[in-house]
Amino acid sequence: MGFLFIKVYLMPNIAIISPSVRKGRKSHRIALYFLNLINVKNLAESEILDLLKYNFPLFNERLKYMESPSSDMITFSEKIKSADGVIIISPEYNGGSPASLKNAIDLLTDEWRRKPVAFVTVSDGNFGGTQAIISLQFTLWKLGALTVPAILRLPNIISSFDENGVPADKQSIDKRGTAFVNQLLWQIEAKKRMF
Ligand SMILES: Cc1cc2nc3c(=O)[nH]c(=O)nc-3n(C[C@H](O)[C@H](O)[C@H](O)COP(=O)(O)O)c2cc1C
Repeated sequence: MGFLFIKVYLMPNIAIISPSVRKGRKSHRIALYFLNLINVKNLAESEILDLLKYNFPLFNERLKYMESPSSDMITFSEKIKSADGVIIISPEYNGGSPASLKNAIDLLTDEWRRKPVAFVTVSDGNFGGTQAIISLQFTLWKLGALTVPAILRLPNIISSFDENGVPADKQSIDKRGTAFVNQLLWQIEAKKRMF
């Protein structure tokens, strides 16, 4: 009796972390941009994890050691755990990432282990968050994430993206954005074949 093997392709799912909780924040535009790009190009399933909505208190212990973590913390943990890959959009604050982002990263431990994570750094100046990446990438590496070497740096985000995340130079940004997401998808696929 013959067997019929049908290979089912499950779309990977990508969580996009939008970390700024600042009034009048601008980097959320970039999270909206990636959500739209991933959907329109059918690259993956995707959702934004908006730290403004999670509204985590200042870190005082890792989630796994907490006696009664909030439901938001548990949801955030589950979303990171179940994501095949994560895109972190980080603005640059004084040469690093916003405290809200480190606050959320430190909450989790095993959730980051061997998680493909790709970084987009942004600023409203000319340098696109080139300094923020240094500590951010190091932190995720320390947590055991599979950090994607390809980093997308986006400068001048106030003029180059509107508030819905639509880029002024769509053709060029879409080309770079798609190549960037494909690097993350490569890492996701590489991990899948390994385990
Ligand atoms: C506290 C603070 C520090 C900043 N430091 C830097 C910096 O070191 N380098 C840079 O290029 N931009 C810096 N900026 C400008 C931010 O890149 C810009 O305001 C960006 O829009 C911040 O993201 P957000 O609007 O989503 O909060 C800083 C902004 C803030 C609020």
